[in-house]
Amino acid sequence: MRIDIITVLPELLKSPFEASILKRAIDKGLVEIYFHNLRDYTDKTYNQVDDYQFGGGAGMVLMIEPIDKCIGALKEKRHYDEIIYMTPDGETLNQRTSNRLSLLKNIIILCGHYKGVDQRVRDTLITREISIGDYVLSGGELGAAVLCDSIIRLLPGVLNDETSALTDTFQDDLLAPPVYTRPREYKGLNVPDILLSGNFPEIEKWREEEAIKRTKKRRPDLLED
Ligand code: ADE
Repeated sequence: MRIDIITVLPELLKSPFEASILKRAIDKGLVEIYFHNLRDYTDKTYNQVDDYQFGGGAGMVLMIEPIDKCIGALKEKRHYDEIIYMTPDGETLNQRTSNRLSLLKNIIILCGHYKGVDQRVRDTLITREISIGDYVLSGGELGAAVLCDSIIRLLPGVLNDETSALTDTFQDDLLAPPVYTRPREYKGLNVPDILLSGNFPEIEKWREEEAIKRTKKRRPDLLED
């Protein structure tokens, strides 16, 4: 999979990709990530990429021209399956969306900033708009990092234990059951006996029941349909 990220702040985005699972996925060649600085696509003085909004009002708006040039240059080289704009008024990201996006070959992610981007970008260049939750960030970069993390960990070969993404919370619309590790007893707190029984069908059954119990209690909305 190839992900091209367009941003005015590449330095804000880079560190999540330089550590841990994401770095390993890149090093193994399972995903390619490219950062494009919008300022490299403007002819204006001071590399200006934003301007005041027509009609007045506080806040700058990212202009269409550098975004169009950057996306145009990328599209000349290859086909993109989705061109995603990170914005608080997009569809809220969930596991199903990440699962689907992880099957794509090439995607572009555009990070918004300030008051956002000129509406004509959204109308003509963007195929999908994604929010990571009902709160406002200072830019789309952290949202893009969250989106990339949730996608990349699903790519085959990224996680050591191939099955572990399948047992994540939200797969099957259920929260994950409780987990325990050594020691068996800590300050009088014990691990449930069933997990020490070696009876794997019973353990599986227990985990399923606990997952349902937890979901009913914490996220009944997930069980609705
Ligand atoms: N940009 C600003 N806020 C955002 C959010 N909640 N999700 C995605 N991009 C954003």
